[in-house]
Amino acid sequence: MRSQGSPAPAGPPTRSARARRGLAAGTAALMLAGGVVAAAQQASAAASCKVAYTKNDWGSGFTASITITNTGDALSSWTLRYSYSGNQRLASGWNGRWSQSGQQITVQNEAWNGSLATGATINVGAQFSYSGTNADPTSFTLNGTPCNGDGGGPTPTPTTPTPDPTSPGNRLDNPYVGAKPYVNPEWSAKAAAEPGGSRIANQPTGVWLDRIAAIEGVNGGMGLRDHLDEALEQGANLIQIVIYNLPGRDCSALASNGELGPDDLPRYKAEYIDPIAAIMDDAKYANLRIVTVIEIDSLPNLVTNVSGRPTATEMCDRMKANGGYVNGVGYALNKLGAIPNVYNYIDAGHHGWLGWDDNFGPSVDLIYQAANASGSTPAKVHGFITNTANYSALKEPYFTINDTVNGTSVRQSKWVDWNRFVDELSYAQAFRERAVQAGFDRNVGMLIDTSRNGWGGPNRPTGPGPMTDVNAYVNGGRIDRRIHLGNWCNQAGAGLGERPKAAPEPGIDAYVWIKPPGESDGASKEIQNDEGKGFDRMCDPTYTGNARNGNNMSGALPDAPLSGHWFSAQFQELMRNAYPPLN
Ligand code: BGC
Repeated sequence: MRSQGSPAPAGPPTRSARARRGLAAGTAALMLAGGVVAAAQQASAAASCKVAYTKNDWGSGFTASITITNTGDALSSWTLRYSYSGNQRLASGWNGRWSQSGQQITVQNEAWNGSLATGATINVGAQFSYSGTNADPTSFTLNGTPCNGDGGGPTPTPTTPTPDPTSPGNRLDNPYVGAKPYVNPEWSAKAAAEPGGSRIANQPTGVWLDRIAAIEGVNGGMGLRDHLDEALEQGANLIQIVIYNLPGRDCSALASNGELGPDDLPRYKAEYIDPIAAIMDDAKYANLRIVTVIEIDSLPNLVTNVSGRPTATEMCDRMKANGGYVNGVGYALNKLGAIPNVYNYIDAGHHGWLGWDDNFGPSVDLIYQAANASGSTPAKVHGFITNTANYSALKEPYFTINDTVNGTSVRQSKWVDWNRFVDELSYAQAFRERAVQAGFDRNVGMLIDTSRNGWGGPNRPTGPGPMTDVNAYVNGGRIDRRIHLGNWCNQAGAGLGERPKAAPEPGIDAYVWIKPPGESDGASKEIQNDEGKGFDRMCDPTYTGNARNGNNMSGALPDAPLSGHWFSAQFQELMRNAYPPLN
């Protein structure tokens, strides 16, 4: 888990711009074929449409959100066209196939969202860069017909998407509000057995179903039913379960490889998801809010660690090609989301993985695709979780993404390396907005795993770094003391983060402790095991790194056991460096 770094193809804008142009050219070729389909469509169906255009502009770039309402006959495919009057350049789009030719923008439906019933709406969006002025487009066409019945001027307010009528149950907007979350007695006992551990042993942590056997309980330990029964016993009304057993799991790293081979999707469905769903569906648990964290470190790997990227792995290419992740996640969402008291939160990486433009939009797109796979619909998604088992700081108090030093943006510092975000809170909030633009419900909420992103202790900076140059400024002020943002295994110097808390910030349903503090991220040397776990050198403190962490030292603590196993030295350090500190 913990998001194998994969710092994007970072790099100056010029480099990604080149990559983008290549992409746009390929899309344009496809568009020609699409144009023929659209023309045929027009002959049989009377098109008529309304379009609402909104944007979020930060001066040198913006995201555009366009809601299309089909006010004419039902369509089986659609093409939206409009033009800008300035130098706006398309970076990436979602929920449709976007391309640009001069000032003209074309958006063609994806394979899965071509049909647009009479009265139906669809939201598409894209990110652009620009300089100078950024005037809104004034006319749109859908399948060649001008929209808005007035020659195409935009309507001022976006249309509210119609709620999915198949959405089961009456879920709470934020299940954490007024909740008494379940304390896992197995973790709690290990924490309490550590000197000083009783200070946090009563915190709620995630229950990881990390293999099929975990459903019944491994080595005499508690299984899913035991946990749910115990939750009732505790008088808890919320429990957090991690769904973590995809075929070809952890395709860009080795420490948390799992038991299922790359082509084991049928086993994932029948032997893992189905039995979990059957247990959760038991009427006696109907009043428990069951939060499911869906498949850490899976879908974004198919954006960041596949051919075309310097960090590609064979397994990620394979899992992209065989659809195992997309269909597995779709299956899990659909099955579990059919239970009215289950709240699905999909893994959304963390800013140090997906915060680059080339990773951000495409990852949301892919997650949206998974939310529509295997019978699932976006209504089965309650929200997203960031930073699971990672170490990215919640808030960097001493610098922001908008700061400059001697005219140089912090984005150009070595640490930030062109990322759009410097911390998890800003990332999670932006992710939420982007997900809504992609077509997810406007009420989706975010969780942030704050179990190990505290960064307190003696090495925590107490003010901004010197303004001598951008690297001194960022490195002097950043509270995240990792050697590199892409480091993820048993990080030295980390501390416990914010204690679990409901509704801490706008858009955030809760701060949660999904990774149980004290459980290892991976062994620091090869250890034989029957859990499918490999040896990843990112967990070896002597390792000098790879493309995913910019060839830096791993920053891992020594003498770590297998992932998931108790690591007392780490637990002690997390308590020492807690922020807020422990009393
Ligand atoms: C491991 C799981 C473990 C989880 C929580 C993961 O890295 O692969 O086996 O349950 O961490 O500690």
